[in-house]
Amino acid sequence: MFGFRHKLPEDFFQGAFDVHCHLLPGVDDGFETAEQSLQALKKLEERGVKKMILTPHFMKDYPDNNRAIISAEFEAFKAQAAEACKIEFRLGGEYMLDAGFMERSKEGFLSLDKAGTYVLCETSYLMYEPGITEMLYDVMCDGIIPVIAHPERYEYANRNNYLRWRDKRYKFQLNLLSLAGAYGDPAFVKSHTMLKEGMYEYVGSDMHGLSNFKRFLPEIKLSTKEMDQLLVLKENNKKLFE
Ligand SMILES: [Fe+2]
Repeated sequence: MFGFRHKLPEDFFQGAFDVHCHLLPGVDDGFETAEQSLQALKKLEERGVKKMILTPHFMKDYPDNNRAIISAEFEAFKAQAAEACKIEFRLGGEYMLDAGFMERSKEGFLSLDKAGTYVLCETSYLMYEPGITEMLYDVMCDGIIPVIAHPERYEYANRNNYLRWRDKRYKFQLNLLSLAGAYGDPAFVKSHTMLKEGMYEYVGSDMHGLSNFKRFLPEIKLSTKEMDQLLVLKENNKKLFE
């Protein structure tokens, strides 16, 4: 990484819409209590965040997470949050591409957009799970467009994988803190390369707690081109709320 690097501007979150976070408390490995979530929301509101899509995990580690249960949790939390802040919320989900994915698809995905088209998906960090392409093909036949969460974090994936996924019309969502090395060096390098090359569509916090954010946000350093690209992603996020 050479040349002049910008820190993330202080006002980066002014008017920002987050499309990936684990602020719905007590349902996954994100925030544990409503109190912690509300505290984080106040900090995010101070920084200027306007809207958030809450995206709890749907995966075999959390077998109780189905659409009905999570929707009920969301409604209860939204009512509490409305008393603490003015941030607007939508409920989405982060769907693991595992053996239960097709079963989950039958109850209907909690999508990122109102129209039900864009669905946040993740896969294993460590190894290529066979059958992913076929699963995604099946749901795409029903009009779904997969948004692949933090592609930079998949250790086995290389440039050719990303290009193939992009050819299949999957969209990519950058984890903001990947740019600061929060997920290790390979994800750090890939996130900068992919950002520079314009491969991402959206940017999300993937916030599971406040501590990582406080620690890594000041570490983000971007070239002018990367900064410009990041601002494009920030605008793209807004389109999911239209
Ligand atoms: Fe996530």
